[in-house]
Amino acid sequence: MKMAAQKRLDVLCKAMPTEWCLAERLDYLRRYLKSQHEETFHHSNRTADLAFHFTHYLPEFNQHRREELVMAMRCHDLGKLVINRSILDANRRLTDQEMVQTREHTTASFVLVGPHASDMVKNVAKYHHEAYNGMGYFGLKGEDIPFEARIAAVCDVFDALSSERTYKRGMTAGQALSIMTADKEDSRAMGRRTFDPYLMRAFSRYIVACREKEFTVQERESLDAYIQSQPMEDFKHDLSLNRGWSVHESGQRTLHDDKGVVKLLSRGGSVVYDRSKRDYEPSSKGSGLER
Ligand SMILES: [Fe+2]
Ligand SMILES: [Fe+2]
Repeated sequence: MKMAAQKRLDVLCKAMPTEWCLAERLDYLRRYLKSQHEETFHHSNRTADLAFHFTHYLPEFNQHRREELVMAMRCHDLGKLVINRSILDANRRLTDQEMVQTREHTTASFVLVGPHASDMVKNVAKYHHEAYNGMGYFGLKGEDIPFEARIAAVCDVFDALSSERTYKRGMTAGQALSIMTADKEDSRAMGRRTFDPYLMRAFSRYIVACREKEFTVQERESLDAYIQSQPMEDFKHDLSLNRGWSVHESGQRTLHDDKGVVKLLSRGGSVVYDRSKRDYEPSSKGSGLER
């Protein structure tokens, strides 16, 4: 971490008495964020709202985990407190050096939420800029990225695109989802490869359900085509298996075929079926994914 950012981080950590409980710590940091960079504060609240409503579309999420995720989203960008304000508000493409500094906010968020934060809060803080294709900040790929961080990435990018910032106008929901679901060949470009296909599909359905008026006919048609094609894209080579698969709380997927249970592991976008593990216990939760 750059010296100036590390210094700001140290000062901020020292400002918080060690006897504070977690709630006091996070409350202090959120109020401080509001006073220092209101835009990031509101962005964090909007992504928390998105995550709250979106996770109602995910059968593996219960109310307790949902509330934890809401807190995680409210805190995910606290690390921006240590990033130079001129970089945060830059109305231009960032230089490579500025990008390196911006990327440090995830580590700073992780440090700021502190050792007593839940795994969900810590994972979202540290990994919300990971990309499913491995092109994110730390280079984690596919289901190596914590499930909650994959959810955070979808909500975070959607809000970044659709909300108004000091330097840009907000996109409609249709425009934002067109970018997020575009089938880009370049793995570094924003598009469907950036996000978990299961989550991106469910998120698209959620956004269409609540913001339908923000779609042109063409955007709606191409999104419908995308929704129909997902999550099969991962499993294209064997569509006959594509029945009754479920996602566990960890984000691990399990697939049930006609002959028994098939455990599915996804690493870095490739899919491995382990047909030998017939005794694998399927989750009792969330067997009915959208098809
Ligand atoms: Fe961030
Ligand atoms: Fe964010």
